[in-house]
Order: sequence, then structure tokens, then C-alpha cells
Amino acid sequence: MRLKTWLAAALASTLLSSAAFAEEINLYSGRHYDGDVQLYEGFQKATGIKVNVIEGKADEMMARIEAEGDASPADVFITADAGNLWRAESKGLLQPVDSETLKTRIPEHYRDPENMWFGFSRRARVIFIAKGAIDPGLVQNYEDLARPELKGKVCMRSGSAIYNLSLLGALIAEWGPEKAEAWAAGVVANLAKPPQGGDSDQIKALAAGECAVTLANTYYFVRFLASDKPEDKAVADKVQAIFPNQSGAGTHVNISGAAVVKYAPNRDGAVKFLEYLASDEAQAYFATGNNEYPVAGGDGGNAALKSLGEFKADPINVSAYGENQPAAQEIMDRVGWK
Ligand SMILES: [Fe+2]
Repeated sequence: MRLKTWLAAALASTLLSSAAFAEEINLYSGRHYDGDVQLYEGFQKATGIKVNVIEGKADEMMARIEAEGDASPADVFITADAGNLWRAESKGLLQPVDSETLKTRIPEHYRDPENMWFGFSRRARVIFIAKGAIDPGLVQNYEDLARPELKGKVCMRSGSAIYNLSLLGALIAEWGPEKAEAWAAGVVANLAKPPQGGDSDQIKALAAGECAVTLANTYYFVRFLASDKPEDKAVADKVQAIFPNQSGAGTHVNISGAAVVKYAPNRDGAVKFLEYLASDEAQAYFATGNNEYPVAGGDGGNAALKSLGEFKADPINVSAYGENQPAAQEIMDRVGWK
């Protein structure tokens, strides 16, 4: 765990441990964003229910819940990416929640059709270019990343990274598996270097002149844009965001979401936490804390996020990303998107 994250979590528990809590919930988090402490504190203040947080990689948190079985103290599982929530659901780790609040607040395509998990914030996976290195007109659509003109100009994160698996899952749903595979093979043929690093590293690679075009989630770019550090601002200055497929299906949007764990000792508290995440207050924290779009709409008052502008989002139900995840991974393996 990163020191800053640990400090934030430790601070949250020490700050609030002095107050008397009649009730508590245990939250297993696969999210890796320091701003999430606002969500825990806000919930504690609103309800008087203490939040105990365990953080780790999403897959580690799922393995832990699985190993703990019906003795698991986990009440809530929260993680980035609908593909991760689908994994938890397929492993039988979750239980359904029937909540009018959640149904009313969260658009239908950002939650599981069986009510096993719910999206609370949105992120778009968009094209970024190095300014001046390429004509923006060449890369207005995801399809364009496979154009032969881009040979040696594309940087990409790993094909096993959940964000890319979910994107390919969406493309399989829209284009069919054959076109999706041809596209993935075309992207691999255009790579400037083997896939390495996270989304921030792809954006930095553009600024460093290592490649001309990449894909990354919006909040990583907004983090550079809103940073006080001159070196971050310099990166943001050299890079331009392009929302793809605006004249077609729309830009690929994914969620961060949460669910009540199957054997939650405090089920009622867990449902209250999910409902709190859908509140105006928590929705704004997703924007101010991690530069994500609130799922209930708007920009949460985040000026840097707002500066990216309006865009047309692909209205596909995000549960398709998980359903197509095995097929997406097979394609990634076949085309050598390592
Ligand atoms: Fe992320």
C-alpha cells in the first residue's frame, strides 16, 4: 500500500475512533484513490456508522473474501471497473440489493441488471495525442488506432489490464468478435514499444515524445491538468484529449462501483453506505476527490473536469464488459497484446 494512502486511511480511523459508534461496517476496497477518505468520513458523519477500510488490489480483495467464506467480516466491496464487479459476482461473492434510492439515483445502464452491484462514478476511456505529433483528424474514433498510418506511433497499457479488457468487451458487443479482434491486432501492429506501465505512464510517454497517441481514463489526465506541480502541468500542456466516436456510438464509459458482500454481517449498514454513495454529497466527492464524473450527472463542481467539455457517452449497459471479458482476454492473448 502506498504511504500516502495508508496515512489517509489511518488518519480517517484515528480521527473518528474517539467518537462513540454504535455500529460499524467493514469495507474492502480495490480502489486506489486517496480522495476516497472523504466518502468514509462523510458517511460516518451522516449516519454515525463507523467505516473500517481494508485496501488492496481488486483481485486480492476478492481472493480474501472468497477465502474467508461465510465467516468474512466484509460488508461492502468497492472497486474500479465494471469488469471487476462482474468478476466478484461470478465468484458468488455478492448479494442483490433492492433499493428504490439506488434505482432512482443511478441510471439503469450503470448498474447490474440483477442488482448485484451499482456504479457510483463514471470515467471515460479516451484517445490522447501528443500535440503537434499527429493530425487530430486521424484519430477521432477507436477504429482509427488500428490505421496503418499510425505504425510505430501508439503506446498502450497491457492487454490484461482491466480497463483495456472492458473496452475490448464493449467493442465486441458493438462490432462483433471478428472486427474487434482485427482492431486489436491492428493496434498491436502500431505499437511504438511493448505495453508497460499504467494510464499515467501512457500520458507521460506522449509528453516525452515516445509515441503520438494512446488511450487513458479521463481522471488521470485531469490529475495532471489540476496539479500544482510544474512538471505535471508541463505534461498536461503537451497532451490533448479526444473523446472518440462522437458521431457514432459514443465514447466508452466505465464505472467505479460497489456491492453488498454475500455474507455481510451488517447488511443494513452496507445498504445505507451504498445509498450514501448515491447522495449529492458523495457524488460530488467522487468528482473533487478523484476527478471522476458523478454517475447521477454533472461534474460535481470540479472545474478541471468540466474543462474537458461535454461528450456523448456510449449508452451500452456496463454489465456487457464483464460478460465479454473472457472473450476479450482470449483476443488479447491471440493478437499478442501483452
Ligand atoms: Fe485507475
